[in-house]
Amino acid sequence: MQVTVIGAGYVGLVAAVCLARSGHTVTCVDIDPEKVAALNVGASPIYEPGIEELLTEGLASGRLRFTTPESGWESLIAEITIVAVGTPMAGSGSADLSQVRDVVDALSDAATGPFTLVMKSTVAVGTGAALIERFLARSGLTIRYVSNPEFLREGRAIEDWYATDRIVLGSADPDHLAPLRALYADIEAPVLETDIASAETIKYASNAFLSTKISFINEIANLCDAVGANIDDVARGIGMDVRISPHFLHAGIGYGGSCFPKDTRALEFIASINGYQFSLLKAVIDVNNRQRLLPVIHLARALPDMDRRTVAVLGLAFKPGTDDVREAPAFDIIPLLLEAGASVTAYDPIAREVPLTGVKRAATVWKALAGASAAIVTTEWPELCALDWTRVRAEMADPAIVYDGRNCLDRTAVEAAGLTYMGVGRPGAHRQR
Ligand SMILES: NC(=O)c1ccc[n+]([C@@H]2O[C@H](COP(=O)([O-])OP(=O)(O)OC[C@H]3O[C@@H](n4cnc5c(N)ncnc54)[C@H](O)[C@@H]3O)[C@@H](O)[C@H]2O)c1
Repeated sequence: MQVTVIGAGYVGLVAAVCLARSGHTVTCVDIDPEKVAALNVGASPIYEPGIEELLTEGLASGRLRFTTPESGWESLIAEITIVAVGTPMAGSGSADLSQVRDVVDALSDAATGPFTLVMKSTVAVGTGAALIERFLARSGLTIRYVSNPEFLREGRAIEDWYATDRIVLGSADPDHLAPLRALYADIEAPVLETDIASAETIKYASNAFLSTKISFINEIANLCDAVGANIDDVARGIGMDVRISPHFLHAGIGYGGSCFPKDTRALEFIASINGYQFSLLKAVIDVNNRQRLLPVIHLARALPDMDRRTVAVLGLAFKPGTDDVREAPAFDIIPLLLEAGASVTAYDPIAREVPLTGVKRAATVWKALAGASAAIVTTEWPELCALDWTRVRAEMADPAIVYDGRNCLDRTAVEAAGLTYMGVGRPGAHRQR
């Protein structure tokens, strides 16, 4: 099939390379000319395991190309045109739909006949219905609109594309879905066909539920700290119940990234403007905001002379396997440490091109740790979870505190090396609040 994917970000690029691999002819459009130029020579602007191989394969096959809209939208509209531009958080907490509107307006001005417009961007409930009206008003054309929310996880995006738990397709008319069924014919996943508003809600509700699980286990971890229970065992015990499942029961300093924080806020906003107070979701967001402050609170107590100390922040990406730093906890933690007077060193194995002021960026974890009195593990990169703790102790100053913000370290090994261990819901020396 002829496919156009608009937006070459984490979602659009993955969609483009995977669809090309499936045999479709794909044009991927992005307004960023540097990104387009890099992609056309096989260089991915994002870190995502396996993406460069598929990019190279797609370009070599002649089924994949990248372009800017400069060539004119008229020639870019395909029988299936997928929108995967950003919908970042607006000041109100709502999803900023300006990128989506810009694209749909450009398409409506250029369209000369009907085509299938597939919305992969996460958009507020009701957006699909509004865009159909807007398209009709501008072009006089009734569009075949399909809401097809994306559920891939950064760091495992390609794997998730082919092994997704489900494909959700929302439309005003089931006949509009025929091209999508063909597009995804090689993906063995259950397909849920529904109306547009329900498909839009499924995306937000999924992310809200996963965020709720994270905030819930973090609350239990905080309780474990207070009562002397161990969150690792508690989470394991809870997760053995098949109704609960062990997934998303890993306590730590909370969720980040480009989706959970913005999508929970957007759903709360959608609820409010529709006259509903989503109390549970408000609490989920509050817990998450508080959770990421825990390392600063505990270290401020342990190091009253913080203004004479160096703190190493290990991990800038919001999770391992990606270079995405959007809404990563490190970016809330670092300014607070700086405000408390600490010198801060920061290290991430992948997310290197990150604007950070007042912080010394270290090229290696050892340089970040040199002379530090505390190290906060903010991202559970495998290399950070398995450090040589004896060497860590030798690099650090006195006292040498390791704050395990992701509960990913072997506490016994850390303590055996003479370091002070602090975790989340793993009570120990820092239990007294
Ligand atoms: N990142 C994820 O893990 C993920 C997962 C599921 C859903 N989503 C949703 O998918 C959407 C895209 O997310 P992302 O992380 O890929 O965003 P992103 O910011 O990485 O990519 C968006 C891309 O769109 C391009 N763009 C913006 N305006 C454009 C225009 N007018 N024409 C052409 N290109 C334009 C940008 O230059 C950018 O490259 C969002 O709605 C997001 O909520 C993201």
